[in-house]
Amino acid sequence: MEEKVMKKKRIFSGIQPSGELTLGSYMGAIKNWVDLQDAYECLYCIVDMHAITVRQDPATLRRRSVSQLAQYIACGLDPKKNIMFIQSHVPQHAELSWVLGCYTQFGELSRMTQFKAKSQQHADNITAGLFTYPVLMAADILLYQTDLVPVGEDQRQHVELCRDIAQRFNGLYSDTFTLPEAFIPKMGARVMSLGNPESKMSKSDPDGCVFLMDSPEDIMRKFKRAVTDCETAVKFDKVNKAGISNLLTIYCAATGKTMQQAEEEFAGQGYGVFKPAVGEAVVELLRPIRKESQRIMQDKAYLEGVYKEGADHARYLATKTLSKVYRKVGFVAK
Ligand code: TYM
Repeated sequence: MEEKVMKKKRIFSGIQPSGELTLGSYMGAIKNWVDLQDAYECLYCIVDMHAITVRQDPATLRRRSVSQLAQYIACGLDPKKNIMFIQSHVPQHAELSWVLGCYTQFGELSRMTQFKAKSQQHADNITAGLFTYPVLMAADILLYQTDLVPVGEDQRQHVELCRDIAQRFNGLYSDTFTLPEAFIPKMGARVMSLGNPESKMSKSDPDGCVFLMDSPEDIMRKFKRAVTDCETAVKFDKVNKAGISNLLTIYCAATGKTMQQAEEEFAGQGYGVFKPAVGEAVVELLRPIRKESQRIMQDKAYLEGVYKEGADHARYLATKTLSKVYRKVGFVAK
C-alpha cells in the first residue's frame, strides 16, 4: 500500500540583533518557536538587514548577531531540527524585497504604526530603509512559502501587510506565494515595560526591560522596582491595574500557571510578596538559558557551522521561490 507522506507546514520568524534579547521577545516569540519546532518545518532567522534601518555600531552588530544565535539555541531551539541563519547570508531576501516593493503602495507603508513610532524616535534619520522595512519582512516570509509566523502582537500589522502583498501578486500572476498567518500567543503577546506599564517592554528602555542575559540580582532589582498602583490586591485588570496585570502575565508565562491560579496564589498577599515572587520565577526561567548561552558562546566554530549550514539550506529553498517570481514578472532566464 502506498504510504502517504504528510508534508509539515512551514514557519518563518526572526528577531533583529539591534539590541540584546528581551523577556518580551522571549515570551512573544522565542518560547513559541520552541514549542512549535517539532510540529513544523521551521526557519529562525537573525534579521541583521532589518537592524541597519536604524544606525548600528558595526562591531556590536556583528557580536550580537552571533550571540543571538547562541541564545536561540540556549532557549531550546535545536539546530538539527530547525534552519537557523543570518539574513544577510541569503541575498534572495534583498532581491525579493525589491520586486515586492514594486507591488506595495506608498500609502500602505505610511500607515504602519511601527514606522510612525520609529520615525518619531529617530526623527533625525528617517531613512528609506525604515520606510520599506515591512516589504523586506514580507520578502523574508514569502520567500519560504511560509504558513505560520509566530510573533508578538506588535508585528501583527506587518504580517497582515505581507498577506495583502502576497494576495495582490497571486491575483496578478496566479498562485505564487502561500498566504501566511500570524501566530500570536494568548499569554505574553505584549509584555509591557516594568517602569511604564502603558508602553511595550523594549530593548531601547533598559530600566523597564529584562534582558535574557541579565544577572539574577539585576532581574530581582528590576522586579522589586516595577511600577504598580496604590492598591493592594493582586488582580488582573488591564485598564485600572496595568502594572499588576503585566506582572501577572509575566508570572503565568514564566511558570505555565493560569491567571486564575496565579490570582488565587497571591490572594490576600501584598505587592511586597508578589513582586519578588515574579522576579524569582523569571530568574529561574532564565538561569539555565543564561548558563547554556555562555557555554555555547565559547564555541565559535560550532556557531559558525550552524549559521553556515542554515544559510546553505535557506538559500536552496529561497532560490526556488525567487526563480518563480522572476519568471512571472517577465525577467529573462539566465
Ligand atoms: P523585533 O526584533 O522587534 O522583535 C522580535 C520578536 O519579539 C516580539 N516582541 C515582543 N513580544 C511581546 N512583548 C514584547 N514587549 C515584545 N517585544 C518584542 C516581536 O513581536 C517579535 O515577534 N519585524 C520584526 C522582525 C522580523 C520578522 C520577520 C518577524 C523581520 N522579518 C519575518 C517575523 C517574520 C521585528 O522587528 O521584531
